[in-house]
Amino acid sequence: MKRKKLKMPDTMEKLVSLCKRKGFVFQSSEIYGGLNGCWDYGPLGVELLRNIKESWWREMTYRDDVEGIDASILMHPRTWEASGHVEGFNDPMVEDSKTNERFRLDHLLEEVGVECSGMDFDAMAAKMTELALKSPKGNALTEPRQFNMMFKTHVGPVEDTASVVYLRPETAQGIFVNFLNVQQAMRQKLPFGIAQIGKAFRNEITTKNFLFRTREFEQMEMQFFVKPGEEDQWFDYWKEQRRNWFSTALGIPDSRLRWHEHGAGELAHYARKAYDVQYEFPFGWDEVEGIHNRGQFDLGQHEEFSNKQLKFFDEQAREKVLPSVIETSIGASRSTMMVLANAYSEEEIKEGDTRVVMRFHPRIAPLKVAILPLVKRDGMPDVARRIEADLRPHLRVFYDEGGAIGRRYRRMDEVGTPFCLTVDSDTLEDDTVTIRERDTMAQERIKIADLLPEITARMAAWKHPES
Ligand code: GAP
Repeated sequence: MKRKKLKMPDTMEKLVSLCKRKGFVFQSSEIYGGLNGCWDYGPLGVELLRNIKESWWREMTYRDDVEGIDASILMHPRTWEASGHVEGFNDPMVEDSKTNERFRLDHLLEEVGVECSGMDFDAMAAKMTELALKSPKGNALTEPRQFNMMFKTHVGPVEDTASVVYLRPETAQGIFVNFLNVQQAMRQKLPFGIAQIGKAFRNEITTKNFLFRTREFEQMEMQFFVKPGEEDQWFDYWKEQRRNWFSTALGIPDSRLRWHEHGAGELAHYARKAYDVQYEFPFGWDEVEGIHNRGQFDLGQHEEFSNKQLKFFDEQAREKVLPSVIETSIGASRSTMMVLANAYSEEEIKEGDTRVVMRFHPRIAPLKVAILPLVKRDGMPDVARRIEADLRPHLRVFYDEGGAIGRRYRRMDEVGTPFCLTVDSDTLEDDTVTIRERDTMAQERIKIADLLPEITARMAAWKHPES
């Protein structure tokens, strides 16, 4: 069947609306008007998010040179002095002098065509003056200032300066401070890595594009500790590993991914070299993951600020080594945003008949199989329930007997269920069901006894239609 892929100019609005309607993502505390930059995952969204995290966890930690941890969100405040975040985790901010709305100066400059990557704060401030930049409402802007993005809170009952702690803005520091604990507990030798998935918080000046830039989000980070001098080879190794994961695990076509190397002015304070994986979102190309050579910066800083040695003892060379670090850092929530945007598709099946289909990789799809008795009589629901019970221990299945079969298929397309199994009158005769594929809508008869191996094989063979 020849189907036309429709152009989707307002994809973001449609995606946000579908996510709410179908239980992927809701606005946080919506009944109170919502809280900017915070989102709640609904029943299908949490399944998708967990599948992405699980895939990353298996990929990164089911190997003998990477260990996993789960560090606390609140850490000793000296951590953030050592890491450079108290001093330097800033974004340039300006305010509309009439409405007091706040903006990131680099975002406003980029909107008028100025390429800001590589520009420092002073260069952006000078550009703003040169262009006599106004706010989006046409009002004068205040002088730019550096805005620190860390959320502060207090530990204990007294809210004084001594009790200040921060919600971590990256999970990485929980790994650095545990470097020796993990190395010694697991008797690891260089090179080896530590991986972690967890929440991070940034008081972003502006939040935008749904799950893309939020104030509370999840990161999946891995720090790989190597001997100084071996950074480049491991940087290249992890760059390739991580790029492959996007296609093999998430089904993202190569044509929607590209590398972006950070220029000198763009590098974070800790990085010597950095490449981002960028994805082509409906709102343009933007970062999903960063691969960074952090050198000895973090361990060196923590040694200095804690007065504790964080060196690895190399028994062969009989010397102490302060390792360098290659970091891979990706947002779990931003990956979910990418996967949702990548999956969303509208098609004209025949004139006047369109469908919305979420083309998730079957391995991360929230629901794998829908089981649909054609009618609610003649024993079909009983057979369908038996198939459901057989498959449920192996796959996330969904049972639906409500409404016309065509409508039930479309409901499953809209939430990205890759396979529908229909129990009909032939099933009662020959123990076969119809398997309908989401992407092609092709239907075939297969034996009930063969369902699990057949579905497993189809899941493994899946490719995004554009790859
Ligand atoms: N430890 C290094 C680090 O945190 P980063 O480039 O600031 O580096 C890494 O962040 C990843 O975390 C980004 O590529 C993105 O996927 C995710 N991320 C960062 N800020 C985010 C935000 N405000 N909302 C959602 N995801 C974010």
